[in-house]
Amino acid sequence: KYEKDTTFVIFGASGDLAKKKTFPALFGLFREGYLDPTTRIYGYARSDLSKEDLRERVLPHMKIPDGPEGQEKVEKFFKMVHYVQGPYDTSEGYQNLKKIIESHEKELGVKEPHRLFYFALPPSVFFTVANEIKKNLYVPNGGTRLIVEKPFGHDLKSARKLVRELAPLFSEDEIFRMDHYLGKELVKNLLVMRFGNTFLNAAWNKENLQSIVISFKEPFGTEGRGGYFDKIGIIRDVMQNHLLQILTLVTMERPVSFDPESVRDEKVRVLKAIAPIDTKDVLVGQYGKSEDGSKPGYLDDETVDPHSKCLTFAALPFKIENERWDGVPVIMRAGKAFNEGKVEIRLQYKAVASGVFKDIPQNELVIRVQPSPAVYMKFNAKTPGLSNLAQVTDLDLTYSSRYKDFWIPEAYEVLIREALQGDHSNFVRDDELDISWKLFTPLLEYLEGPDAPDPEIYPYGCRDPPGLKKYLEKHGYNIAEQHHHPYTWPVTSPE
Ligand code: BG6
Repeated sequence: KYEKDTTFVIFGASGDLAKKKTFPALFGLFREGYLDPTTRIYGYARSDLSKEDLRERVLPHMKIPDGPEGQEKVEKFFKMVHYVQGPYDTSEGYQNLKKIIESHEKELGVKEPHRLFYFALPPSVFFTVANEIKKNLYVPNGGTRLIVEKPFGHDLKSARKLVRELAPLFSEDEIFRMDHYLGKELVKNLLVMRFGNTFLNAAWNKENLQSIVISFKEPFGTEGRGGYFDKIGIIRDVMQNHLLQILTLVTMERPVSFDPESVRDEKVRVLKAIAPIDTKDVLVGQYGKSEDGSKPGYLDDETVDPHSKCLTFAALPFKIENERWDGVPVIMRAGKAFNEGKVEIRLQYKAVASGVFKDIPQNELVIRVQPSPAVYMKFNAKTPGLSNLAQVTDLDLTYSSRYKDFWIPEAYEVLIREALQGDHSNFVRDDELDISWKLFTPLLEYLEGPDAPDPEIYPYGCRDPPGLKKYLEKHGYNIAEQHHHPYTWPVTSPE
């Protein structure tokens, strides 16, 4: 119903997000046949750009198929794209945009317009732009939708302010708060895997699991955006949002259906069961120079306060106080400037009863979100042949080999399509946002207050910060298990 004749407006069209993610995602959908050809795309920004300039900016970030067919798709796509220059804070630009949109809608004979406004904008102008949209471009009956992206506030107070400001202008149904991690294939797969498999579902609880570790590592620092990052830190950047979404999907109860409100109701319910984060039990770090001195430390960035205690790494403990999870530690760890880029969820099962086995490794289910999506279970089997020794092996679902011929869309492609279809399941609801800030704000206040601990310095490019091993062990994750049974996973197709 929603997809035909949609007008898609990108505010902040000249910026980085639009260039690297939004336009390329729209092209990706078009390329694969999932963007209705009646869609009109308008880039809107203050910069004086021609449509050609915009095209030049976006092109390097688009995935274009080889050969003439690819070129043809590019040409057709850019026929759908227009650029409108205008200010954000006065009505004249919006009036101009309105005229252009209405004349196109008239041309197409559209009776009930569908207008989707994408905010690739800093939050400081969210309200102004939303207000102008409401005044100048709003169409009723569900025809208007807004996609907004993080940051949704800086703490509980500012997040509430944002929600309060938008609420009189747009209903919750009209707002799509995007967390791009919810569009990642393996994050979307979590509910299907958990609730679609009896053997996983049956053991997804405190009786069988010893610990859960959610990890995020990036192989680069804040190069080029230190000034921005200094006010944000790793917790706001990826933990309060992306990793908390993962934690929620890993721990929530089965929704009564997959409809958006049922899913989001369960997410909210588990979030409410999380105990306040123990501020004294966190591990915090900041990267220094690499060991060989070739990579700069965080404080070497000139745009950063030279005494900054900004965290580029943190490990946080979560306790979920409900029947399913009571006593199972859930650790979230995230950091920049490590040896590799990897996002994974690791569920470590309890040890089997001793007796016949002396030292058999614990099972682990690993869900690797990126790179090279995979799900694998570390699994014990008899060593083949005459030996009776148990050996750790794996049950493996590596997407690059199992799903060779599948198109795995980018997170932005998935979510933009869902917003075009009016599906809220993978967008953040206002109450979900509120609880997540309630959970994180006291921790952030402590870490940014006068009693904040000094971050431990770790060298750029290292595997883990020095204290991490002990920290994980303290929280029930048995690393020794892994060390006795060295196990390397072959990454078949790095991304
Ligand atoms: C963004 C953060 O939200 O997510 C970045 O602001 C981070 O700092 C990025 O690099 C990670 O996203 P992805 O999809 O590359 O894992």
